[in-house]
Amino acid sequence: MPVRAPHSPADFTAYYQLRYQVLRQPWQQPLGSERADDDDAPTTIHALFAAPDGTVAGVARLHPSGPAQAQVRYMAVAETYQGQGVGRQLLEYLENAARQLDLTECVLHARAAAVAFYERQGYHIVAPSHTLFGSIPHFLMSKEL
Ligand SMILES: CC(C)(COP(=O)(O)OP(=O)(O)OC[C@H]1O[C@@H](n2cnc3c(N)ncnc32)[C@H](O)[C@@H]1OP(=O)(O)O)[C@@H](O)C(=O)NCCC(=O)NCCS
Repeated sequence: MPVRAPHSPADFTAYYQLRYQVLRQPWQQPLGSERADDDDAPTTIHALFAAPDGTVAGVARLHPSGPAQAQVRYMAVAETYQGQGVGRQLLEYLENAARQLDLTECVLHARAAAVAFYERQGYHIVAPSHTLFGSIPHFLMSKEL
């Protein structure tokens, strides 16, 4: 599987660059806004999808968010690689990592435009959640692992 954990400094640079490019730059957010306080926590699991030429085509992360619960955050696939199964494989990798930790539920806050993608992967909407940058409605979604 082309999904793996980032290891080298170059991996992490590409990882955060893609996160910024897909999830922050289009809304004119400052560089650095793509980072979260717990990105470096030992319990946070990062995943990247490497294309055959080494390009980082997609990234995502997961952390334990309760005794039996995991949360996926910062799922981002480069525009030219969208619709080719990259997001699905990233999600499967992270869900398997959660199962290995005996976590039984995975939750996430999905952008409205991504809700159908997560539904396709077995998630259901629990409730509407926050609106990001004043313009992107999110929905809390959940899946039993
Ligand atoms: C949403 C996103 C993560 C999906 O990843 P992807 O690699 O494009 O999706 P995949 O190719 O793995 O799609 C898997 C399936 O979901 C479907 N799908 C993907 N995106 C979809 C969408 N926005 N709406 C409806 N269906 C979608 C695909 O058609 C595919 O269906 P199939 O199982 O019949 O083949 C990606 O498009 C992305 O990064 N978008 C911009 C940023 C974003 O919204 N991130 C999520 C933040 S919560």
